Amino acid sequence: MPVSPATSLYDVVLAVHVMAVVIAFGVTFAYPIMFAVGARRDPRSLPVLHRIEYTIERTLINGGLVLVLAAGIFLASDGHHWSEFFVQWGLGAVVVIGAVLGGVMIPTAKRAETLAERDIAAAGDGPIEMSAEYGALTRRLATVGSLLSALVLITILFMAIKP
Ligand code: HEM
Repeated sequence: MPVSPATSLYDVVLAVHVMAVVIAFGVTFAYPIMFAVGARRDPRSLPVLHRIEYTIERTLINGGLVLVLAAGIFLASDGHHWSEFFVQWGLGAVVVIGAVLGGVMIPTAKRAETLAERDIAAAGDGPIEMSAEYGALTRRLATVGSLLSALVLITILFMAIKP
């Protein structure tokens, strides 16, 4: 099947765009399992799990988001898609995800790390009981994280079906 150079570059960048989506967001769907197992099996692992959480957000997700955006801009320009709804939606999604990561998820995970360390230190060698304050922070992380995951899934749906 003959392909023009322009067509194949578009296809390669489309593949990069989808790879960046997988790299940026794939791991986030495993967070609930990671924290449920950590809390149940070894609460002393919670501070390091929060550190892993916000380090992933600062590096992998932020970097992936930049790549999703850069590849998306190329696709929208090369394919003349700028006026289409799914592109406007994608831009909005990238802005919202970036803002919520930097404004809520990363600072809240850092605070949760500090509080988990405090609660664990307060327990000494005895049984660990996490504070209500820590519980409130992890509920916020779970709720906002689920909303972001839903936004990612809806965006994939809109990109694929182009309503
Ligand atoms: C969280 C943000 C985003 C996600 C999860 C996402 C996801 C996807 C996926 C899965 C596809 C493949 C769909 C298919 O080929 O059927 C796609 C295609 C595409 N995306 Fe995105 N995208 C995002 C952001 C953006 C942004 C910001 C732009 C533009 C600035 C953009 C522009 C495009 C374009 C033009 C296509 C190609 C459509 C086609 O040729 O069929 N995307 N996106």
